[in-house]
Amino acid sequence: MRQPRYLLRTFGCQMNEHDSERIAGLLTADGYVATREAADASVVVFNTCAIRENADNRLYGNLGHLRPLKQANPRMRIVVAGCLAQKDGGTIRERAPWVDVVVGTHALPGLLDLLHRAETEGPQLDVREQTEIFPSALPALREVAHHAWVSIAVGCDNACTFCIVPLVRGPQLSRPIGDVLAEVHGLARRGVVEITLLGQNVNTYGRDLTVPGSARRPLFADLLRAVNRVEGLRRIRFTSPHPHDFTPDVIDAMAESDKVCEHIHFPLQSGSDRVLRAMRRSYRRERYLDWLERIRAAIPDIAVSTDIIVGFPGETQEDFEDTLDVVRRARFDQAYTFQYSPRPGTRAAEMDGQLDKHEVQERFDRLVALQEAIALEQMREQVGSSAEVLIEGLGRKGGARGRTRGNRVVHVGGEHAPGTFLDVRIVGAHPHHLDGELAAGGPGGSRSERKRASVSPPEPREPAPIR
Ligand code: 5AD
Ligand code: SF4
Repeated sequence: MRQPRYLLRTFGCQMNEHDSERIAGLLTADGYVATREAADASVVVFNTCAIRENADNRLYGNLGHLRPLKQANPRMRIVVAGCLAQKDGGTIRERAPWVDVVVGTHALPGLLDLLHRAETEGPQLDVREQTEIFPSALPALREVAHHAWVSIAVGCDNACTFCIVPLVRGPQLSRPIGDVLAEVHGLARRGVVEITLLGQNVNTYGRDLTVPGSARRPLFADLLRAVNRVEGLRRIRFTSPHPHDFTPDVIDAMAESDKVCEHIHFPLQSGSDRVLRAMRRSYRRERYLDWLERIRAAIPDIAVSTDIIVGFPGETQEDFEDTLDVVRRARFDQAYTFQYSPRPGTRAAEMDGQLDKHEVQERFDRLVALQEAIALEQMREQVGSSAEVLIEGLGRKGGARGRTRGNRVVHVGGEHAPGTFLDVRIVGAHPHHLDGELAAGGPGGSRSERKRASVSPPEPREPAPIR
């Protein structure tokens, strides 16, 4: 008998990528195989994002496209998972009654049950408000064999006034350090060479835990050092730290740990102290720049990426100039720039001084132009250097595409399988990627070079990481 097919579409951040690997793992365990064609699928899953308004519009657009298919094939089941499912719950079925299952961020482990029940009992909704089982404990099906997302905490205890995440992901819940290590050991044994540790605010990892047999809490720096000792792993990444909770011991742990890559994502959000206060981000611009200086002093080759929001309510021209000023001084290798999007339920959505769209667009364009120029300058500095590149997939014109330890995308000629390490000489620079040539001696990736060899501007693995 032909195996049933599923189509899975993922929106948003790495946390959703991680959850999607679990959705794919659960469906595979239940006998499904993946397809790219909705017409071919018995189950279609949208793993949704709620961070900005256009995410809503896209979901309802996608659901609209599925309606005729569902009418033609009533046995097809449509699932809405993730942050929009958590946020909108029952209203999704009011707006799109042809949806069969709405499964929130805390209810993923019950996905198969909900699907089976939908067959006999009709539409299902589970938007419970507490995580009982970490999605990390579920089987995973990964798109590439060499990389894995590893969740270290879910939820967030902060209350940045623009951000919907605490509402849809709940308060922070850290995974016991032993569970994280057990997962990482298992991944390394199965050939994973690169992991990305995920948490909304990795610096507060462990605040809600204690170390077994002691009154001490595990810290993120402890976790980094412990993961660094796992044999077989070659690269450790993490996202994201919060400038408010950042601590010197994390810099020390990064500098000491040879597998921890020379890249940090350090969300700025705004360069204006007035706006940072209104955002309830409790660091200030000089403190942010001071952290950058300390990080760069300890890890000289480190690449820095950031998130910036333009057009927060009440942002004046002067506030915006302050952001440009910090961008000039910080010299980010990469910035993810966003136009402020009011999210119902957040404090900022109720604030006076919501800005005119055209004004925001104009500021946004200026910021992007400035950052592109800086990114290109930073990239050009890499030309002539050598770097270890881990191949991720196909590149342009039949070549391969990979990343340096600094998270810079490099295109290399020739066929190279994902998961291969190459020693590469950088020969060309663009704002978002580098061109590389195989260094004399060919494939390999010498370990001795690793802490030094990398260069910088990262390109997102996928859009908009949630932080
Ligand atoms: N509007 C615009 N950008 C936002 N982000 C989070 N919430 C909003 C919002 N309401 C951005 C932040 C965050 C990134 C993942 O998305 O910069 O770090
Ligand atoms: Fe938490 Fe990050 Fe959202 Fe702030 S921006 S509330 S730290 S997830």
